[in-house]
Amino acid sequence: MTHPLLQFIWRGEIVTLPHIAPTRTLLQVLREDLGHHATKEGCNEGDCGACTVVLGERQGERIRYQAVNSCIRLAHSIHGMALWTAGDLATPDGTPHPVQQALHQCHGSQCGFCAPGFAMSLFGMYQNQVLHDQPVTRANAQEALSGNLCRCTGYRPILDAAQQMAQLPKVQVDESKLLQQLEHVAQCSQGLEADFSYEKPATLNDLLAARAATPQAQIVAGCTDVGLWINKAHMDFAQVLDVTGVAELRTVEASDSHTVLGAAVTLTDAFAALEQDRPQLHPFFSRFAGLPVRNSGTLGGNIANGSPIGDSMPLLIALRASVVLMSVRGARELPMEAFYTGYRKNVMAADEVLAFIRVPRPQPGEQLRAYKVSKRLEDDISAVCLAIHLQILDGKVTQASIGVGGVAATPVRAVATEAALNGQPWAPASVKQAMETLRGEFRPISDMRASAAYRLEVLGNLLERFWQETQHPDEPTLQTLSLAGVAP
Ligand SMILES: Cc1cc2nc3c(=O)[nH]c(=O)nc-3n(C[C@H](O)[C@H](O)[C@H](O)COP(=O)(O)OP(=O)(O)OC[C@H]3O[C@@H](n4cnc5c(N)ncnc54)[C@H](O)[C@@H]3O)c2cc1C
Ligand code: FES
Ligand code: FES
Repeated sequence: MTHPLLQFIWRGEIVTLPHIAPTRTLLQVLREDLGHHATKEGCNEGDCGACTVVLGERQGERIRYQAVNSCIRLAHSIHGMALWTAGDLATPDGTPHPVQQALHQCHGSQCGFCAPGFAMSLFGMYQNQVLHDQPVTRANAQEALSGNLCRCTGYRPILDAAQQMAQLPKVQVDESKLLQQLEHVAQCSQGLEADFSYEKPATLNDLLAARAATPQAQIVAGCTDVGLWINKAHMDFAQVLDVTGVAELRTVEASDSHTVLGAAVTLTDAFAALEQDRPQLHPFFSRFAGLPVRNSGTLGGNIANGSPIGDSMPLLIALRASVVLMSVRGARELPMEAFYTGYRKNVMAADEVLAFIRVPRPQPGEQLRAYKVSKRLEDDISAVCLAIHLQILDGKVTQASIGVGGVAATPVRAVATEAALNGQPWAPASVKQAMETLRGEFRPISDMRASAAYRLEVLGNLLERFWQETQHPDEPTLQTLSLAGVAP
């Protein structure tokens, strides 16, 4: 099996690399193959942000810029995109970019190891916001930097730099030249033979055919889970099937009744779409990993990976979402919770892919909240996750729908608690009863994230909090408060 040619735009040139193995990461290509060391390796698992780079992709007549972790991103996944690293910000004569000037002026670096990663997350923000005259606030800077860790400077000067960069004279990327180069690479890639170690079909039909022909190939989307199997568990795959090139799987469509999300829609875009109907979910979504992980990771990947502490599934269960599985044999749709059969096991056949996620749109009387309890506010995995979705009409619960993570081998529906609430008045006595039912419904394990007793206690507490928030809807939630809490 041959490796396909990898082509991307870097430093104004089209870079062409033959012989790149399917599981080679972008960071390995940068540091080991191209000898480029401005991009750092820290954790090698998507957590620290030292390896952050920015990718540019064509979106209509514009370029969309996204900061991603190069350590868990497969090199072939950036074929046909533009790349910027920390070594590419200054002009050829050495004049620093506004991002670099601002970090310098605000004393945003001490040992400097994290600084290239912070600079790249800031560069992504600069391209997407500053150049489009969108304000850089403390809160949105904190979100943009949520995937970058610094252990010596402290975050205040770096957040100062985020706001300072917007005050400096603007520096533009030559997008018209870039668009031409991206078009050139796209045309060169057309009609290539499919018998490659790294396949990235462009249509759903081609994906389903490839899945049927090569069921042994490792499916990969954003690679934010698979990247850890490669880097930390030292797994290798002779053949990779990348779903992120499939146009149909990258679309979001809304009808009167449903929002339908393609499985390869990134978490960033999927959350933005779901937030349009339900803006109260923003604080929950902004606590899913950090921005660079959300920019690569997909909603379908989160579901298919099936971690019992994955964050989107409890919410999707509560929303009564369904998943659509497809193969060359046809399509089938099933409720979100019916997808799982055991710890990281699901009903997908060897020739199937997860194609779409169908999420019902809000109905009158909806009350919805999702809560994540973790040790760190951002970039951390849940100890417990609870999503509560009630329909309350004339003071009575007409439909309760509750999804829970971190209490069983799979994400689960809290069937007994739903039954305890259905048909009851939304009042303190029924809430108290439901809290007791919820605390008794599951038998979680104790592990390094939390003890079983803590998990059960906190579940009931979260339901009580939900009750309080429905009584005082205009008061900011704790999650909103802590996000805004950095602002001086
Ligand atoms: C630093 C860090 C922080 C994280 N924080 C969180 C967090 O807060 N909450 C959370 O829930 N998760 C978190 N994750 C896990 C991960 O980011 C998510 O699970 C993400 O949604 C995975 O999506 P992906 O596209 O990267 O999947 P991939 O890694 O590409 O794939 C994951 C699995 O899904 C399969 N797959 C992907 N797409 C399809 C498809 N269309 N059809 C069939 N199978 C498919 C793959 O074969 C693989 O088995 C974190 C990860 C990292 C590295
Ligand atoms: S090296 Fe830590 S996120 Fe990549
Ligand atoms: S400056 Fe040392 S880790 Fe950030």
